[in-house]
Amino acid sequence: MDWSAEKAEALLREWTQGESLVKHGLSVARCTESYGWREAERLGLTGDEAARLAEMYRCAGLLHDMDYERHPSTEEHPFVAVKFLREQGWPEEILQAILAHADYSGVVPETHLQRSLFACDELSGFLTACALVKPSKAIAEVEVAGVKKKMKDKAFARAVKREDMTRGAELLGIPIEQHVGNCLAAMQKYAAELGL
Ligand SMILES: [Fe+2]
Repeated sequence: MDWSAEKAEALLREWTQGESLVKHGLSVARCTESYGWREAERLGLTGDEAARLAEMYRCAGLLHDMDYERHPSTEEHPFVAVKFLREQGWPEEILQAILAHADYSGVVPETHLQRSLFACDELSGFLTACALVKPSKAIAEVEVAGVKKKMKDKAFARAVKREDMTRGAELLGIPIEQHVGNCLAAMQKYAAELGL
């Protein structure tokens, strides 16, 4: 099939009414995409090949929670989405990454794409929370040091699992500061798209 980030975003919006879940998909996509560009560079890819790899990473982010609003139970999410996408012919790499972001799926994050999606999922939500407590609500004002401080503050954004954020950085083999910096830069670059 002729897959693209444009199609992935259209599917996310078709399946999701809630604006915050749409925004979550968009932010995870931009963070994950930034790791796709890094991986392309590591592999020595350039031009269209690099762009296509980054687009695949972005699609995984856009689609990972596409069924969450309609099918939030652990019996159905993300399995309904994966079945639907597989029937449509989306690349298996994307489907396996979507499965691996749910730790109960039995698919352990092993490939770089799987690890990137897992690592960006919780962190992007936490960075959004960090932006929303700024008077301007702007992600441009969020800094790595402030994020680290808030990670230690148990009362702040308590639904976001700190151990998933640190495990994500471990899976990627980079310090948490670097992971926060990478995701922050990706979200700042696309602040307008994310409404932050
Ligand atoms: Fe998510």
